[in-house]
Amino acid sequence: MKKDLLRILDLSDREILSLIRSGATWKRRGGSRRPIRPLTGKSLAMIFQKASTRTRVSFEVAMTRLGGHALFLSPQDTQIGRGEPVRDTARVLSRYADAVVIRTFAHETAVELAAAATVPVINGLTDGHHPCQVLADLMTAGERGKDLRKMRVAFIGDGNNVANSWVEAAHVLGFDLRVACPKGYEPDPAVIEEAGKVGRGNVRIVRAPAEAARNADVLYTDVWTSMGQEAEGRKRRASFKGYCIDAALLRQADRGAIVMHCLPAHRGEEITDEVIEGPRSAVFDEAENRLHVQMAVLERFIQH
Ligand code: CP
Ligand code: NVA
Repeated sequence: MKKDLLRILDLSDREILSLIRSGATWKRRGGSRRPIRPLTGKSLAMIFQKASTRTRVSFEVAMTRLGGHALFLSPQDTQIGRGEPVRDTARVLSRYADAVVIRTFAHETAVELAAAATVPVINGLTDGHHPCQVLADLMTAGERGKDLRKMRVAFIGDGNNVANSWVEAAHVLGFDLRVACPKGYEPDPAVIEEAGKVGRGNVRIVRAPAEAARNADVLYTDVWTSMGQEAEGRKRRASFKGYCIDAALLRQADRGAIVMHCLPAHRGEEITDEVIEGPRSAVFDEAENRLHVQMAVLERFIQH
């Protein structure tokens, strides 16, 4: 197993499935009267250079449930915001904490942090990847009876960080992924190429949402404008018109299809209120599963 979890390609298919199984065990144990605390006395430093609700809270609660402690570090209140080099921050935090979570802009920043840190670094979202999100998504799809090696997933919208992590998951596990996006908004070609070398999955880029959605087991979407792209908001709203999961698109999918969204959602843009609030939506289970699968990730990556 690698020291760090920066992208889905850092995990093998067996490691992904094992993390999901372990996440399910933590979920079952949630109500247990005799808590198991494998990370007693351990600390997790969490650097957040972008906003977060789910990632921040789920990692913090996960550490508490595992017996450890998490520290939220924002750039405003630390020397990170005053330009202290990432490699210095990495070396200092490694002397106090047992692992580091980072949410930042350039994926390279997380790579640089991990290279200089002697403790595990976990990606809590970069412009390039969102691996913990997709682990929770896979756990949710599995709970809903989807075969993680054979399912058909349709990603509708922007080929962003979440889409890149889906491309990697498809190739590591071997399922079928169709990404429907406008020209110019495809997942990162370098990710497609690297994941393609693993090559178990079948990943296709199409233009028409209906073509991606046809017979899909999972319909997935995310915002059209990710954090850091706010200046492009107007242009993006025009480019993505029609790339919306609505009731008509859902009818193209398999009868048992589920709808997923990493949240936060912009109702009326990438998904309708009717669909996200409807019976096929799994979005709040997905959000909950961030906590459980990250307990598995922390237990696995932190030395104890
Ligand atoms: N899905 C997700 O990562 O949400 P947050 O931005 O609230 O952490
Ligand atoms: N693609 C979105 C995901 C938010 C959880 C973003 O990067 O803003």
